[in-house]
Amino acid sequence: MARIIAGISSSHVPAIGAAIDNGKTQEPYWQRVFAGFEKSKEWMAKAKPDVAIGIYNDHASAFSVEMIPTFALGCAAEFPPADEGWGPRPVPVVKGHPELAAHIAQSVILDEFDLTIVNKMEVDHGLTVPLNLVFGSPKEWPCPVIPLAVNVVQYPPPTGHRCFMLGKAIRKAVESFPQDLRVVVFGTGGMSHQISGPRAGLINSKFDKAFLDNLTKNPKKLTRISHLEFMREAGAEGIEMVMWLVMRGAIDDDAEEVYRFYTVPASNTAVGHIILENRQRRAVKRTVTRKTRRKAPAKARRAAARVKTPVRRSK
Ligand SMILES: [Fe+2]
Repeated sequence: MARIIAGISSSHVPAIGAAIDNGKTQEPYWQRVFAGFEKSKEWMAKAKPDVAIGIYNDHASAFSVEMIPTFALGCAAEFPPADEGWGPRPVPVVKGHPELAAHIAQSVILDEFDLTIVNKMEVDHGLTVPLNLVFGSPKEWPCPVIPLAVNVVQYPPPTGHRCFMLGKAIRKAVESFPQDLRVVVFGTGGMSHQISGPRAGLINSKFDKAFLDNLTKNPKKLTRISHLEFMREAGAEGIEMVMWLVMRGAIDDDAEEVYRFYTVPASNTAVGHIILENRQRRAVKRTVTRKTRRKAPAKARRAAARVKTPVRRSK
């Protein structure tokens, strides 16, 4: 059976992608940002997931204003990098997992989340920048990635609560998939930023850090943040943080925070990153140990009885 082992969230600032593509990661301005992801790369190299589900938003790359699905699940075998105005990023084609994606579509839609099924789609920096941050710049991405695009570009985006509940539905879908797969879920976007208007350049570290705290300890509180509150506190583009709540809904309520990083600014955006690991595996181990201890004496008694019986019969 497939299971989700961890959730990862990070900003997906396009300038981070440009710094990677143009060999600027060691420049003093960018070194500070990339240094914060070294531990994440180590964690990912050990975790070795079989599949990733990437929650991100399309920035008018795959979908124009003519068609904006609220939730769009990539069910194709591959997703080429989109041309975002200066040619496609020099990153590997994202290979999907059509079988798991189709299973998620069926399970989630029957759970009354009306996803759009997408069989052909290019993916932009919203998905590829977080992949770079935790996988580096390999020739091929080390595992299949199922993209799930969330509309946060044109009003109305989904609520944080809706995103959280979608995460729970995705978890249920993954856990009913018969193959033994270890899955990680990426929630991308944010943190506080605003790219236009009188408040362009807004960053609210206090709000961001409280969001990170609650993401670990009290995610239900975050599901009550309204769109207006996101815009007021985190800027117009801070609404991207609802996508972190899809990730959070997909993992354990008591998931363990194993890493966190926050820095400002990168371009005009606050960069936040967190890794939350499911405790499930450890809990399973403990249960097995307790069961074994409880059952051992009974087993021993039955074994002893089986030994004694033939001895009596032989007399
Ligand atoms: Fe974005």
